[in-house]
Amino acid sequence: MNYIGSKKHLLDFIETTVKKEVSSLKNKVFCDLFAGTGAVGAHFKTKVRKVIANDIEPYAYTLIYNKIKNSSTYDLQKIVYAPKEGFIYENYAKERSYFSENNAKKIDGLREAIEKSFICKDINEDQYHYCLASLLFSADRVANTTGVYGSFLKKLKFMAKSEMKFLPHTFEPSKNKHEVYNQDANELIKTIEGDILYLDPPYNHRQYGLNYHILNTIVKNETFEPRGKSGFDKYIRSDYCQITKVEEALETLIKEAKFKYIFLSYSNDGILDKMSIKKIMSKYGSYSVEEFDHSRYRTSKKSKKGHVTEYLHVVIKDGM
Ligand SMILES: C[S@@+](CC[C@H](N)C(=O)[O-])C[C@H]1O[C@@H](n2cnc3c(N)ncnc32)[C@H](O)[C@@H]1O
Repeated sequence: MNYIGSKKHLLDFIETTVKKEVSSLKNKVFCDLFAGTGAVGAHFKTKVRKVIANDIEPYAYTLIYNKIKNSSTYDLQKIVYAPKEGFIYENYAKERSYFSENNAKKIDGLREAIEKSFICKDINEDQYHYCLASLLFSADRVANTTGVYGSFLKKLKFMAKSEMKFLPHTFEPSKNKHEVYNQDANELIKTIEGDILYLDPPYNHRQYGLNYHILNTIVKNETFEPRGKSGFDKYIRSDYCQITKVEEALETLIKEAKFKYIFLSYSNDGILDKMSIKKIMSKYGSYSVEEFDHSRYRTSKKSKKGHVTEYLHVVIKDGM
């Protein structure tokens, strides 16, 4: 999945920086508090004792449940379904060309069949999330967008014309038990503790609930009156995307964290600058920062080219 702010290409940099500060990972509890696709938590889950992963968005919860917590797969061929002219077909194919009509009917049919299988107890909770994450992953591959769901393309692009295959969203099995949550980070932080806290909040005004609204619609499986050209539903407005709220949200989070090692990913073109983050974090312990240059996430060839510096701010909290 082409995810805004994904750290899948920065995993080595993150691991190297974490290992510089934390001598042995083996018995540690690692928390990925803004987990998104779960790339970072999944990378650490075989290296630490326990991963706690969280994201405020329902679609992200499905993805992290599968990538991090899950231990059961299911034969996807056993989900018996019939293509259906349902909510996705009516609103996001016939009305707005986010999907081809045939793919939208398939998404509607599969979503209904997954729910039925769960209600009839043919699949358990782990298998339910495996099937749902697989549906999100499969639908996203044939979406007629430039990567996010804020808008759709007028003409069906090559991938969107191809027939959607119901493909597995794979995960790496782990002997240890991991936890996943679907909460606001600033609420969850009051109730958890551990050793390593990895923070990767949004760094600009782009709200994830809007940019991935169709994935939430598929997961939530509820009908509503779609709004605007893009057909979005009510969505969560994160404090981390708002210039007037982000500083206070971040400071409260750092203050309340019951973790000794805190790592914060943030890019040089984010709404908070490097010095403001340093000022906040250094109040709570010994502070340092590492830098990494990488290509900018681009939604289309027309977007701004160039390189972005990714910072990993580190604080070793006093008194922990
Ligand atoms: C930069 S992305 C994380 C990307 C992730 N590290 C990855 O590699 O896929 C930021 C994530 O924070 C989530 N988010 C935004 N505000 C949040 C909040 N207040 N609490 C928890 N999660 C939040 C978004 O839904 C989004 O998935």
